[in-house]
Amino acid sequence: MSELRILVTGGAGFLGSSLCQSLVDMGHNVVALDSLFRGRKENLVQVLDKDNFTFVHADVREVDALDGVVELLGGLDLVFHLAAVNGTKWFHEAAHSVIDVNINGTLRTLELAMAHDARYVLASSPEAFGEALEQPIRDGNMMQFTDPAEHQRHSYGASKYLDEVACQHAARDGLDVRIVRPFNAYGPRLVGDEYGQVVSIFFHKLLNDETLLVHGDGSQTRSFTWIDDVTDGFVKSGLLDKGLDGSNLSGVAFNIGSTEEVSISQLAEKVVIASGKEESKVEFGTGYFGDSKRRLPDIETTKRLLGWMPTVDLQQGLQKMWNELTEN
Ligand SMILES: NC(=O)c1ccc[n+]([C@@H]2O[C@H](COP(=O)([O-])OP(=O)(O)OC[C@H]3O[C@@H](n4cnc5c(N)ncnc54)[C@H](O)[C@@H]3O)[C@@H](O)[C@H]2O)c1
Repeated sequence: MSELRILVTGGAGFLGSSLCQSLVDMGHNVVALDSLFRGRKENLVQVLDKDNFTFVHADVREVDALDGVVELLGGLDLVFHLAAVNGTKWFHEAAHSVIDVNINGTLRTLELAMAHDARYVLASSPEAFGEALEQPIRDGNMMQFTDPAEHQRHSYGASKYLDEVACQHAARDGLDVRIVRPFNAYGPRLVGDEYGQVVSIFFHKLLNDETLLVHGDGSQTRSFTWIDDVTDGFVKSGLLDKGLDGSNLSGVAFNIGSTEEVSISQLAEKVVIASGKEESKVEFGTGYFGDSKRRLPDIETTKRLLGWMPTVDLQQGLQKMWNELTEN
């Protein structure tokens, strides 16, 4: 495969930084663009000094910055659009920014890809289905959202829904667009403060010998997916010219998620086992509005067209994550 000129927006974030690392290791020319709103340059230490990597500190909504990336690369073959305001607490506290960044960032990068006829990969989310009643989550299921007067959590999910609408429209107009929906990725770089995600929040509590707080009764389920598996899903979605069966991949949405469904109570037990701190306390408290009851992927399309499968089971992945967090 020849070297591609690739833009990764949100490239200093949790998923973006791992994706950059894989693409740089494969020899592609990569620019990571990130505002550092939530990402960190330290996430990129392994690639920062590589000749085929450049970091650009900019807002994804700035058209001049995007044009500057194309100049730097001498053209554009592929965009992985991951920049977004992520983290449940932000969805409630900063709905305006979530909508602004997520929708305008997608529109501006889609326009960039169209101008250069570059392939485009959107990081969407299972939350694009809103409060999904039908499980597992698969294309054709209803996408449904509750009254925004009750809560604004769906600033995120609804913006991802509109991102998918914009991508499908671009695909209909001839752009090669693929959609990736990661299901609760986890790994050592996952943000673990109050704006972070559950696996990392639990581990950071354990590191500080604090009580784990489970939202609600803990019966809500998720499918947690190891970072390297998610990264591999993005790489395959972006780099394969055709599906394994020879089909056109434009407009196809890929669920990238483990099919091991666990409740948040079970997750709490598993992180405690991984840490070996069996004396740790778990408490149950109020949850967030709009927290979905289940989020389980159907991965048949992803398996068939990309040959992608999750390879790391949850207890094994949690152990790897704990070991890395406690090594330093
Ligand atoms: N982590 C998951 O399990 C998961 C699940 C579903 C979807 N996603 C999607 O995948 C993408 C990456 O998620 P992540 O977990 O790495 O989150 P993250 O917050 O670590 O990464 C997002 C990155 O975007 C950057 N960013 C935010 N606003 C920006 C702006 N205006 N301009 C430029 N950069 C900006 C942040 O600084 C951050 O580095 C996001 O689009 C997210 O919605 C992630």
